[in-house]
Amino acid sequence: MNGIAAVLGAGTMGHGIAQVLAQAGYEVRLRDLERERLEAALGKVQANLEGAVARGKLPADQVASILGRIRVETELEAALAGAHIVVEAIPEDLELKKRVLAEVSAVAPTLELVGTNTSSLPVTEIAQATAAPERVVGLHFFNPVHLSRLVEVVAGERTAPETTRAAVSLVEALGKQPIVVRDAPGFASSRLGLVLGLEAMRMLEQGVADAEAIDRAMELGYRHPMGPLKTTDYVGLDVRLAIAEHLHREVGEAFRPPYVLRRLVRAGKLGRKSGEGFYRWSPEGECLGPA
Ligand SMILES: NC(=O)c1ccc[n+]([C@@H]2O[C@H](COP(=O)([O-])OP(=O)(O)OC[C@H]3O[C@@H](n4cnc5c(N)ncnc54)[C@H](O)[C@@H]3O)[C@@H](O)[C@H]2O)c1
Repeated sequence: MNGIAAVLGAGTMGHGIAQVLAQAGYEVRLRDLERERLEAALGKVQANLEGAVARGKLPADQVASILGRIRVETELEAALAGAHIVVEAIPEDLELKKRVLAEVSAVAPTLELVGTNTSSLPVTEIAQATAAPERVVGLHFFNPVHLSRLVEVVAGERTAPETTRAAVSLVEALGKQPIVVRDAPGFASSRLGLVLGLEAMRMLEQGVADAEAIDRAMELGYRHPMGPLKTTDYVGLDVRLAIAEHLHREVGEAFRPPYVLRRLVRAGKLGRKSGEGFYRWSPEGECLGPA
């Protein structure tokens, strides 16, 4: 499978998904609602590629051709024209995802694969909103997409085995490692990752230690590349809150969102993307120390 890939949503995840698809040779149509978001996304992709050139990971002469394979669109129909595959990376909101993928299947009924990048929501229910649930599969990328090696492939109840196989091949073609998981709340990664993140927030509220010390405990003590609070800043506090609310409903008390998470989200402190969360961040995304 190769050709044209539409990516819906150009935020934290969408721009990275567009980048890795373009790097693998796909012609990418990146869709968001506003042109400014799309311009910002292209800027981030360019910065990522230039970073790869600086680290000796990418020949400099490939930057322009990779960027040239990403076309930005604000209209769904234009983004889907000629597409073989779609990956959605719009906000973690079940009704929104169902609505958008229903629109997708009405506009482009013959897509080979529709991937949802949901972190926790039921792939089966999202798929049911479409005309071809057998071609819908979870494609759960990790942040930052261009550097992370894992993609969780989530097989819904009605996902056809050939769709799961196509998703695994796609992930491998992107140079990443797939794990195939069943459609259970939070899959394998978000469920475990969130437990750690939410417990770290409760420890912060209880004054067990400050954010840096809690993160260092996991980084140095357990060799995690990044502690749970900094990871939350990377993910986006709003995104983590949405996942926690869903897992709280579906799995139970361990996922009750801590008050500090709600408080920061209400104040617009969403982590790296807004400049402040548990840490402060420069506009270029450098960590400036604890908030
Ligand atoms: N942030 C992470 O670390 C992370 C990791 C893995 C998976 N995810 C999942 O990826 C998805 C996106 O998360 P994100 O962090 O990139 O969110 P984000 O808020 O950074 O980006 C979402 C983008 O979608 C756009 N959008 C909203 N409605 C749209 C529509 N109808 N069509 C096209 N674009 C639309 C928004 O304008 C925004 O730019 C969520 O399901 C999230 O759970 C996030």
